[in-house]
Amino acid sequence: MSKIKVCYFSPTGGTLQVAKHLAESMSKILCAEVEYHSYTLPKEREVMPVFDAGDIIIWATPVYAGRIPNKTLDYVRNSIHADGNLSVALVTFGNRAYDNALAELVGLMEDGGMQTVGAAAMVTRHVFSDTLGASRPNKDDIFALENFAAKVVEKIQSFSNDKVPAIKVSGESHPDKYYTPLKSTNAPASFLKAKPSCDSERCIRCGKCLNICPMGSISNVGGVPMFDGICIKCQACRLKCPAQVIAFTDPDYHSHIAMLEQNFSSPKQAEFYIVGE
Ligand SMILES: Cc1cc2nc3c(=O)[nH]c(=O)nc-3n(C[C@H](O)[C@H](O)[C@H](O)COP(=O)(O)O)c2cc1C
Ligand code: SF4
Ligand code: SF4
Repeated sequence: MSKIKVCYFSPTGGTLQVAKHLAESMSKILCAEVEYHSYTLPKEREVMPVFDAGDIIIWATPVYAGRIPNKTLDYVRNSIHADGNLSVALVTFGNRAYDNALAELVGLMEDGGMQTVGAAAMVTRHVFSDTLGASRPNKDDIFALENFAAKVVEKIQSFSNDKVPAIKVSGESHPDKYYTPLKSTNAPASFLKAKPSCDSERCIRCGKCLNICPMGSISNVGGVPMFDGICIKCQACRLKCPAQVIAFTDPDYHSHIAMLEQNFSSPKQAEFYIVGE
């Protein structure tokens, strides 16, 4: 029996929440089982997803700097080996823009042998900010997502061994640059090397942050985290700390957040694409 297989990267859970809703909406109509494959943590990226004939694939990722997260690119490229499986591309973004991310994801999926029937860019909370995209997805987003799920299923049911034409989505499928973050002065913000730090006196040594870093960059020093590797600024450690003692202090990072909050506070719409429409 064919399954819906959801492959996702979701350090703080926003992407997973949307992917789950999409998968469950499709599964209700198709009466198909849903299976999840996370590639968020380093250990999870040691395993490749397995796609059987007839499986429908949902591939979901957040947008980082207008593209799919740079450090996940190799995994995505190497783990998509499909044989014409019908699929849906899903990106989530924090109310700035999804730029080339959706087109890049569709390109990678099609290079790996998937046939994309639908693609969606959903607004979710921007993990840098307490206000940007704060209450997204909202009721309207969910209604639109369910409508999209129904249209995708209708499209899937209309194909019987036919070759699916290429889907057209906004953006470049092989972009060569990332979005350059700006400061509130509009000068480029340089926080590539920024890392969080922990207030060890207020840390309650609960251990929650120790195994959740997608880069495996948090070590345990007497129950307190030490940030000693690559940081992709995903915010998982900061947002999941129950004592709220993890913070970024980099001034360019904070100036970028101020710029985002000044310029991107008006709600953006989710965008949906169906092949042939
Ligand atoms: C490093 C980084 C870069 C981001 N770049 C963008 C961006 O270019 N455009 C945007 O609208 N949101 C951007 N976001 C916001 C995320 O796309 C959004 O918060 C997403 O829902 C996070 O997914 P998760 O909850 O599954 O971790 C960025 C977030 C991070 C951590
Ligand atoms: S250290 Fe950086 S990459 Fe690791 S969880 Fe924290 S913010 Fe994410
Ligand atoms: S999650 Fe917060 S309180 Fe818990 S060990 Fe990590 S820094 Fe300390």
